[in-house]
Amino acid sequence: MIERAKLGEPFLCCFDISNRRWFMNRVSDQIVSKKRVADHGEVFTNPREVNAMLDLVKQETERIESRFLEPACGKGAFLAEVLRRKLTVVKNRYAKSPLEYERYAILAISSIYGIDILEDNVADCQNEMLSIFKSEYKAALKQECSEECLNSARFILQKNIVWGDALTLKRVDHPDQPIVFSEWSAVNGKMMKRRDYSFSQMVNCSTEGLPLFNVNDKGEDVWAPRPVKEFPLTHYLKLAEAEREVNDAA
Ligand SMILES: C[S@@+](CC[C@H](N)C(=O)[O-])C[C@H]1O[C@@H](n2cnc3c(N)ncnc32)[C@H](O)[C@@H]1O
Repeated sequence: MIERAKLGEPFLCCFDISNRRWFMNRVSDQIVSKKRVADHGEVFTNPREVNAMLDLVKQETERIESRFLEPACGKGAFLAEVLRRKLTVVKNRYAKSPLEYERYAILAISSIYGIDILEDNVADCQNEMLSIFKSEYKAALKQECSEECLNSARFILQKNIVWGDALTLKRVDHPDQPIVFSEWSAVNGKMMKRRDYSFSQMVNCSTEGLPLFNVNDKGEDVWAPRPVKEFPLTHYLKLAEAEREVNDAA
């Protein structure tokens, strides 16, 4: 870190890995407080570094349904950029058909996951992603996103961006409960299938002693976590209602 005497504001000296050049970035853009750095290692990544790193997996960032998980997502520097890139693809392919745009935009947001240990980061990340969803929708379709569609995107973000501890694999708000992620898969156009998985099983370190192997067509053992919950096929705008119905019936 260096001080800029004239401006009186501290700057971070960073290295741009794609252009192999040093550049300066305001400390206030990357650090909230010394305490948060000491307690949680919280230093946000500069957009230039985010883009350079995402360019290393550019093809995947531009595949609408490819799944991304950031286990220490902060305010979502990486996740927000992945969403922007995916929504650019959705716009280029489907802007002429609002219905198609909407379905694929929901699929794009549903494929992005994050965990952070700090509650305000989780809220900021969810808000930033929702705001990108809303503004990209308007830019692509030249109309405001309907409340129904926004509610669906908001519901998905509440499930996908989790207030949790990526080391213990538990939630922070309910430390006895495991982090659970929902897999959202598009089926027959407008419908979505939701299956919930415990994160500990997904990282193959199950503490529940459940078998993680199924047998494939060739009779070989393949690693396959089992869902902890399944939901009926649901219209992409009715995902929150489907959860309420399943919980009421339980
Ligand atoms: C170096 S920052 C990176 C944030 C973000 N990935 C970025 O690049 O801007 C590390 C983040 O990890 C979070 N964190 C620290 N310990 C964690 C843990 N055990 N589980 C989940 N998140 C954690 C912090 O709150 C902080 O937001």
